[in-house]
Amino acid sequence: MNHESSKFNLSNFLAGETSDPLQAPPSFTAWLQTAASAVQLYEPELLASPDARTTINYANEPRSVINLCSYNYLGLANHPSVIAAAQEALRTHGLGACGSPTLSGMSDLHRELERRIADFAGREDAMLFNSGFGGALGTISGLLRKNDVAVLDNRSHLSLRDGATLSRCRMEKFEHNNPISLDAALDRHRGQRKLVIVEGIYSMDGDFGNLHELIDVADAHDARVFIDEAHSILATGEHGRGAAEHFDVEERLPLVYGTFSKAFGALGGFVAGPRDTLEYLRFYAHPYVYSCALPPVVIAAIMKALEIGTTQPQLRKQLWENADYFHAQLRKLGIDTGRSTTYIMPLIIGDRERMYRLGHELRRKGLWVAPVDYPAVPNDGICFRACVTAKHTRADLDEALNILEDTLVPAALQNA
Ligand SMILES: Cc1ncc(COP(=O)(O)O)c(C=O)c1O
Repeated sequence: MNHESSKFNLSNFLAGETSDPLQAPPSFTAWLQTAASAVQLYEPELLASPDARTTINYANEPRSVINLCSYNYLGLANHPSVIAAAQEALRTHGLGACGSPTLSGMSDLHRELERRIADFAGREDAMLFNSGFGGALGTISGLLRKNDVAVLDNRSHLSLRDGATLSRCRMEKFEHNNPISLDAALDRHRGQRKLVIVEGIYSMDGDFGNLHELIDVADAHDARVFIDEAHSILATGEHGRGAAEHFDVEERLPLVYGTFSKAFGALGGFVAGPRDTLEYLRFYAHPYVYSCALPPVVIAAIMKALEIGTTQPQLRKQLWENADYFHAQLRKLGIDTGRSTTYIMPLIIGDRERMYRLGHELRRKGLWVAPVDYPAVPNDGICFRACVTAKHTRADLDEALNILEDTLVPAALQNA
């Protein structure tokens, strides 16, 4: 990234510049060319499975890397039993579901997974979505109405914000995890139906939602709370029921939403809760009614992943041990991980040009971390995001730390 291109970012190109709505703004295309070196770090091609060590295409060459990029938290995406379950379903049910669940895409496997997710989550019923994004968007937009208020943490995932936008309800934000700010936001809407929207673990900052305090404030205003457990379901809590289990607040949250694309190692999302609510949602969540159901092969794989994730708690233990070890070592190196206390860790660089330069250096040295730029994070939070998994060995983590030390830590501070 050269100096000129670093003056701009994705929020600069939102206005149409020509009379043709199908044409990209010419200034964006020109900017993208000047930023080619930065862009090269995005959409890297994975040449193998998302394992702890894998191979990516870097500069048109296969490169072996330690993978700190995948959400394969428990290593289930490439677990032999998960693959075998998918193969068997492919044989019995074919590839696609070939219809929306409402009309023709529901199979016996989908029903079975609904039941197992409801049991796992300790809820009456569950429904499945073909994407996590669609599940969050569909649930929020399917339940909120024009006169309602969605009250979102200002670090909320875009799927939640887009759901609120689609519902055309009033939107309010509160300062990240801040009960005083939430209280003020709720106070502005007395007498209206209010839904406070929080996450179990925040996907960029890697910190937990401040569940106890935020739920207390919501209760005081008679507001409901919706939790997105995308990054925490199956990976957090004694039994894998997420941050709500970890903080013992499950009974205070009527609905739980999670994804299958992270610890389950697959694709899709679910929402679990009271049967009446979900029966209503089955007709009003557009991504559910008007989009093809998940392929049965994916359903069978998720079912096996759920079985492994619930019967092998040592996977979660290993994940958290790895996260704690990596945090402790990063601290020793003086690398700033912001608010993170989990297996998702921003490695804060704070300077765009430096981050992209170091990003290339890390890939050349065999470490794969994700670049995270504004507006996904504030400008002073520009970082790499690292995710450790249960499958990383101590040797993998130590090698990753050595590369980080060589690359990120100024020579004067090394071995200080
Ligand atoms: C908090 C949160 N919610 C929802 C989603 C969407 O999930 P998916 O990637 O499964 O579509 C993500 C994706 O990363 C997420 O981080």
